[in-house]
Amino acid sequence: MTMRLAVLISGRGSNLAALLDAQPDSNFQVAHVISNNAQAKGLDIAQDHGVNNSHVLWKNRALGEQHALELLAGIQPDLIVLAGFMKVLSADFVSQYENKIINIHPSLLPLYPGLNTHQRAIDDGQSTHGASVHVVDDQLDHGQVLSQTHVSIDPNDSAETLAQKLIAKEHRLLTKTVQMIASGQLSCDNGWYFKGEPLNKPWVEQA
Ligand code: GRF
Repeated sequence: MTMRLAVLISGRGSNLAALLDAQPDSNFQVAHVISNNAQAKGLDIAQDHGVNNSHVLWKNRALGEQHALELLAGIQPDLIVLAGFMKVLSADFVSQYENKIINIHPSLLPLYPGLNTHQRAIDDGQSTHGASVHVVDDQLDHGQVLSQTHVSIDPNDSAETLAQKLIAKEHRLLTKTVQMIASGQLSCDNGWYFKGEPLNKPWVEQA
């Protein structure tokens, strides 16, 4: 059975594009794209791929979430993917889709929740950085980490070069993680499991 995704975005949409590119060879389908930003490039990407898409006016969290929840009630997604979605969801919203919302975040969580992750990793003298896919709860970049990918920080890396190195890995990590959920390899039933074993630490992308 094909897993239906709702993808929430705020901007460029390169992770959305990666999901759409992987879709033909996968058992998931992007059913609908929702953006809180009418100018988001990701809405054009959805449009170009013939994917239903909506702009939700996020005047404040209550109104934005109400509109998004109405849309989601019609979409009936199996999984909600936050891909560059820059709003923190409320406990009420998250409780309606418990363990059914994931987010891609550009750091090795629990390190560096929030913004400017690349610069913060460099400033701390880290030699390794990365990205995480985690379950969304009502705190910023906080829920259980399902999967991670690593990238080395070279002495002459800037936040920009590090972001460039990481983004392709982010795309692979997100698509791979969604594929693993769609295929049932990664599953949730009173806790998360990988191939039937409790997921005690994040699955790591080796490539
Ligand atoms: C990515 O770096 C993602 O990890 C972060 O926001 C960025 C979104 O990029 N949450 P895009 O919109 O998918 O191109």
